[in-house]
Amino acid sequence: MSNPVCLVSGSSSGIGASIVREFAAHSYDVVINYHSGAERAGRIASALESEFGVRTLVAGADLSAATEPFRLVDAAYDHFGRLDVVVSNSGVSSYVKNADGRLQRYRFHETPVEHLEREFNQVLELNLKGAYRLAQRGLHYMIRQAQAEQEAGLQPRHRSLLFVTSISDVAPDSTRVPYGVTKAGLNHAVLGAAMDAGPYHITVNAIRPGVVDTPLTARPSGLHAPDDGHEYTVAETYALMAQGGSQAIPRIATPEEIAYAAYAFTHIPFMTGQLIAVDGGFTLASGFANRETFLQAGLQRRHQQDAP
Ligand SMILES: NC(=O)c1ccc[n+]([C@@H]2O[C@H](COP(=O)([O-])OP(=O)(O)OC[C@H]3O[C@@H](n4cnc5c(N)ncnc54)[C@H](OP(=O)(O)O)[C@@H]3O)[C@@H](O)[C@H]2O)c1
Repeated sequence: MSNPVCLVSGSSSGIGASIVREFAAHSYDVVINYHSGAERAGRIASALESEFGVRTLVAGADLSAATEPFRLVDAAYDHFGRLDVVVSNSGVSSYVKNADGRLQRYRFHETPVEHLEREFNQVLELNLKGAYRLAQRGLHYMIRQAQAEQEAGLQPRHRSLLFVTSISDVAPDSTRVPYGVTKAGLNHAVLGAAMDAGPYHITVNAIRPGVVDTPLTARPSGLHAPDDGHEYTVAETYALMAQGGSQAIPRIATPEEIAYAAYAFTHIPFMTGQLIAVDGGFTLASGFANRETFLQAGLQRRHQQDAP
């Protein structure tokens, strides 16, 4: 009997890399997908093969291109002959760089038309359309396998499709609304796909992370430290806010914590069509809306801690 197989898009970095590790640790063969990180993906594959004795397929794809998600899923199925879990995880932020190479942030109503088009193209093509296409093809194969089991008089095994969306689907940040729009759009895909998949014992859900410490959040945030003026990263900024009370648990997440939840959410046969936050209670405390308040409180607390 072969191992079950899990495909995770964007698994050469951050959350996706932790998710393939979590599945490999549970004896899944895994498909590691990269875009620019071929070497990183290769190293992840070698580590998982030697640590857990599983088989891996390393597959490059630019999932923002119309046919690539289909090609990736086809390659995974052709290679392993089965697909049991598909995690659509690849994603980028909507910020684009100016001519000077710095990220430019505009508020919703102030964004120049040309800049908005660039933001839209960046996130709609990958985060929304790429994820949608990947999921559509993944479900196609999973339903086909379930139908074959039904025709053989067997109860189909539980399979699962998971979208990594974000709490930015509902928590607004005026300078990156296009990103939130893509994540909110995927949540709707969850609901439609869940209805299609249910009769075949396939569950479809979204995991909605809060702020996680990954390369995505290592970019500059635009906030400067009051003492020495250095620019905080996004991760550091939200960690400050967390300390200031923006969420129930006063820290940001590790990618391993999201991976642990991703594994759990794909192994609950009676849970489907759900959009679940794993955010340390960020949405509980309306963190985005009260960003300034929490930042100031965090800075004050940090200052008090650092005082001699
Ligand atoms: N970090 C957070 O705070 C946070 C919070 C909520 C939701 N999320 C979501 O979690 C997901 C993973 O984010 P992360 O933080 O782990 O980011 P990350 O470390 O930057 O990883 C992003 C992954 O997406 C891949 N990717 C980028 N462009 C691609 C393309 N055109 N085609 C295929 N793959 C592409 C990257 O591949 P290469 O590196 O090989 O180019 C990488 O594997 C994203 O969907 C993000 O929106 C993150």
